[in-house]
Formats: sequence, structure tokens, C-alpha cells
Amino acid sequence: MSDLGRLEDLPEEYREALTQRNLVPLWPSLRGVMPADAPRPRTRAIHWPYREVKPLLLRAGELTPIEKAERRVLVLANPGHGLEKMQASSAIYLGMQLLLPGEWAPSHRHTPNAVRMIVEGEGAYTTVDGEKCPMERGDLILTPTGLWHEHGHDGDQPVVWLDVLDLPLVHYLEASWHENGQRQPVRPVQSERDYARGGLLPLTMFERRRSAYPMLRYAWSDARVALERLAGELPADHPVQLAYVNPETGEDCQNILGFSALMLRPGETLRLPARSPAAVFHLIEGEADVRVEDRLLALVEADTCCAPGYTAVSLHNRRAQDPAFIFIADEAPLHRKLGVYEVRG
Ligand SMILES: [Fe+2]
Repeated sequence: MSDLGRLEDLPEEYREALTQRNLVPLWPSLRGVMPADAPRPRTRAIHWPYREVKPLLLRAGELTPIEKAERRVLVLANPGHGLEKMQASSAIYLGMQLLLPGEWAPSHRHTPNAVRMIVEGEGAYTTVDGEKCPMERGDLILTPTGLWHEHGHDGDQPVVWLDVLDLPLVHYLEASWHENGQRQPVRPVQSERDYARGGLLPLTMFERRRSAYPMLRYAWSDARVALERLAGELPADHPVQLAYVNPETGEDCQNILGFSALMLRPGETLRLPARSPAAVFHLIEGEADVRVEDRLLALVEADTCCAPGYTAVSLHNRRAQDPAFIFIADEAPLHRKLGVYEVRG
């Protein structure tokens, strides 16, 4: 394949004439936007140890009252994209959010989809579309696009959670906006009761529920039990992983990002195929190594890391006696919808 012509090969007056008319020659940039064989991701493998994040987050609690922050968050930013872009990958935003006892993060809604993975603390809750969802460690709470949500805290210790949003993508699409609202009338969480048994769905006079987001809270206590049960039944070389899905459709629980929980048996090593979407790994419990090509990220409980797409990742449980539990967020639903989803090797 011959080298393509460069910008500097063109006469300066020609380049100038193009620029003045808002025109750009494609061939000098063609390989950059469509590189051979595989993309060249800007997303880098980055590890955010919780022991480094937490003191700085607590300091933010002293420095900035909630009224001045609305959401008190330290963004886990990937330097590959530039820290100012506040993105972990091309489509994923990650933030560690702190809510102190008695604080209230007022009701709002926005076009980007969000989920919360609770990292530490008890007594906080998120009200989503009027449903009051308790926040306990490892719980996944959805706040999908357009749904009102607010956070409150009746406990006596700080609560921290990991926010995962598709904000970079929605912002790139010039479709990101928010609206502030009034405090929501609250009803207790109902979806966990309605969808407590797999394969059984609630009906109202023979009609299925039409809500796009019928389930808003996925309790860690349920997910953990389900993973352990699976591990007990599957052959030892079969990965133990559960997807967070919409119980009415069986599809991904949100439109753009996908979420799953994975258990590593004691000492287990799991080689993940190189897939097109970037992924985030958050260690709910245990100790695990995440190897991203030649980089080794040694995670302890509550740590978070990310890996670019088209990259082989392997996961290893460092403990010989205990399981490790990992929450995974990725861009797979988006890639599948766009027809660019790919698995290699
Ligand atoms: Fe929000």
C-alpha cells in the first residue's frame, strides 16, 4: 500500500484557498480516521485506587458544601482523552460521588443515562421516578435518560458511590441537557418484589408493563447469591457472570452502556477476548489483578479501572480461599446497535 499524499505536499496557496472555503483534503488524514486493521484508541488502561480517591473526596466534603456542588463528585478522568474532557473512555464517564449524613442532592433529570454502583456507607437512598431505592454496597441503581432523580442520606456515615454515565457520547452528540425539579413524591421500591422470580412477570388484566425501565434497583445481596449459586452449578472452567437486564424484555437494562457482575473463583484466571467496546472494572469484593496487554493493575476492594476496546484483558483472583466480585460496565449495547461490535481472538 503506497503512502498517501501529505498536507505539506500541497502548495500553500491551494491549502489557503481550501481553508477559506471551509474545505479540507481527505487523503492526508484518511489513515488517521481509518487506521489499518484496528483502531488506535485514546483510552488508556488507568487504575483509580479507592484509598487515593477517598481522602480527596472527603476533603471535597469539607471544602464544598452540597449546595455549591449539587453533585459532589470527583471525576475519574482518562489522561488519554485529556483530563479536561472528563471521560474514562469515548462513551463512558465515571465519577466518585460523596453524600454526607443529612445532605440532599436535589431532584433533576437529564438526557445522559446514569447508574450508581454503591461503594461504601449505609443509610442513603436515591429516589428515581418516585421510587425510593435504598443504597447499599454493591447495589446497582439506574437513573435512565429523562427520569427524575435525587439523593438523600438518613445515615450517620459518609456514603460514596460510583456514577457511570454515557455523558461523553451524549455530549458529543450535542444532545446533553438537564432540568432541575421539585422534590418528588415518594413510594417504596416495588420492582424488586415484582421481578423477584426469573421467568415470572407481573400482569395487570393480562397486560404486560409498558415502562421502558421497569426495574431501577438491582440489590447486591440478590446478585451475589445468584453468582454463588451459578458458581456451584457450572463446570469449573465456565465463567460466572450475570447481566443486568430489563426483566420485561431480557435486553440490556439501558440503551447505551451495558452492565454485568462477574465472580472469580478463588485463584481463578479468566482471559477475556479482545472486544470492540471499552470496559470499566470495579471491584466490589476481594482482590483481583486486571491485566490489560502489558499493564498489570492490582485492584483491591472498591478500586476502579478501565481498559480500551480491541484489547485483550485478563482477570485474576489473587486470593486462594475467597471469591472476587467485579462489576463491569462497557459500551457493548451501543456497539451492537451501531453494528460495529466485534470480538477478536
Ligand atoms: Fe443526575
